[in-house]
Amino acid sequence: MSQRTLVLLKPDAVRRGLVGEIIGRIERKAGWRITALELRDLDQDTLEQHYGEHRGKPFYEPLVAFMSSGPVVALVVEGERVIEGVRTLAGPTDPIAAAPGSIRGDYGTIVRENLIHASDSEESAARELKIFFPGR
Ligand code: PPS
Repeated sequence: MSQRTLVLLKPDAVRRGLVGEIIGRIERKAGWRITALELRDLDQDTLEQHYGEHRGKPFYEPLVAFMSSGPVVALVVEGERVIEGVRTLAGPTDPIAAAPGSIRGDYGTIVRENLIHASDSEESAARELKIFFPGR
């Protein structure tokens, strides 16, 4: 089943020069393709829309501050079961729990700075794509 997902390479990935490495892993997956890509600074409004469901959780404020600490690379990736697939490539939220071979397992340091966001369901993907790439 072909799907579309929103991927954000977080400010730590940009600062650490890992954009090419992470995009390479996505591109090497047969049958997936990048259909939009942009380096951008996220404003408060965008971050509140994107992470609104987590408002009130202890990590919300630090997460929003981190996500506005530098530019992110926003991508749309399309392909077979890409929503589940990019999350598998990323590994679990906590880099210590992430297996070697996954992006977070290979490069992750602390939970907040976990390099990559990827939509977690078809509903989230539809909502997030509208926030980041309206009209696409
Ligand atoms: S939850 O509560 O189970 O829905 O949380 P989870 O899906 O693991 O994470 C939701 C997003 O919050 C980020 N996160 C954190 N950021 C900073 N500090 C801490 N401790 C923390 N814990 C979770 C996590 O990376 C998710 O953001 P995205 O952008 O989706 O990766």
